[in-house]
Amino acid sequence: MFHPAGDPADTGNFPAMFQPDLLIPEFPILDQMIQGRPLVYLDNAATTQKPMAVLLASRHYYEAINSNIHRGTHHLARLATEAFENARNTVASHLNAATPDEVIFTSGTTDAINLVANILSLSGRIGPGDEVLISTLEHHSNIVPWQMLCERAGAVLKVIPCHDDGRLDQAAFLTLLEGRVKILALTWISNSFGTVNPVAEMTAAAKAAGALVMLDAAQAAAHQRIDVQALGIDFLAFSGHKIYAPTGIGVLWGRAEILNSLPPWRGGGEMIKEVTFEKTTYNELPFKYEAGTPNIEGAIALAAAIDFVNGIGLSMIQPYEQALIRAAAEALADIPGIRFYGPADRAGALSFNVEGVHHYDLGTLLDQMGVAVRTGHHCCQPLMARFGITGTVRASFALYNTESDVAALAAATAKAVSMLR
Ligand code: ALA
Repeated sequence: MFHPAGDPADTGNFPAMFQPDLLIPEFPILDQMIQGRPLVYLDNAATTQKPMAVLLASRHYYEAINSNIHRGTHHLARLATEAFENARNTVASHLNAATPDEVIFTSGTTDAINLVANILSLSGRIGPGDEVLISTLEHHSNIVPWQMLCERAGAVLKVIPCHDDGRLDQAAFLTLLEGRVKILALTWISNSFGTVNPVAEMTAAAKAAGALVMLDAAQAAAHQRIDVQALGIDFLAFSGHKIYAPTGIGVLWGRAEILNSLPPWRGGGEMIKEVTFEKTTYNELPFKYEAGTPNIEGAIALAAAIDFVNGIGLSMIQPYEQALIRAAAEALADIPGIRFYGPADRAGALSFNVEGVHHYDLGTLLDQMGVAVRTGHHCCQPLMARFGITGTVRASFALYNTESDVAALAAATAKAVSMLR
């Protein structure tokens, strides 16, 4: 396993023992020129790049053990099944799940949230007049499935407001919990502003009010240690591609007791025990929620990504990335008319606008200078509406970013702004 931690070194504001320079060669895509300049990749909240360990895991699967799982009696089927179930074990221990059966492989966060919304709706657990509570910070994946559920069930969608600094209004949250809230569906880290929600406290309050809690950990997974038992939540979703794994694989973790009490959703092979034309009986967890052939290679590569991250340690990665974000905010602060969104202790992403400059134009010029950022509404149109904007420029960070990426972002932004004004 690759360990970037080297000799202790005094790195100023940056945590010692973390040497991103040793990590960069693990990500071959980073070694390229864009528009004649070295690539500076700062769009990690949209998707992260993949290390060799993940690329090799995907390649090994197809080169050596590709086969369908849980079905065949032949050698390759056994190897593929074993690798897939080992991947589930890796995810389970990474999340501190009580049992690997609580880990359902999905195609990503969106798929996992849709799954939960649909099984809650089918179960009748959420009915007319009941409330689903989300927050202003949610991206569309954690809004639309709940709106669809509310439409079907006659339930009401309630939204926790946020303050101007991008933090949720906790007093309003507690007041909202006095209603008929059946589930709180909350992002851990805002993909747009980098706000880190106090999820443990909010979960405790929601549980005390009798609600289920689902955390959207799409952004948190690459930046935070996750312990589903300590959090006391009921469901958690994340996507592989935001934690250095391929697209098309993700995880729904659900408490076994709850998932066992809920009906299946998608029907097909794998999720059944016995099928006759008259009646079908359903499989146990986790297979009950994994109809059809899953993304076998994706699950195996996700486990490789988790091993890669854990080989470095989130306790090393997290302070390093936060130091980078603080440095980026400091480096950009002198640009006249710049406004940052979200609180100062943000994680993952730094969002900003510059007065008199359209975020899209700024992003386009940054790209011409080799700096990849995301511009626009970041799939958070209601959040942008709350702030009276159409979008922001968002620089988002990963473990392979460096102080020189921050310097490149600041220099390119200053230059682009001077060209656009
Ligand atoms: N949710 C992804 C983002 O924030 C796509 O960019």
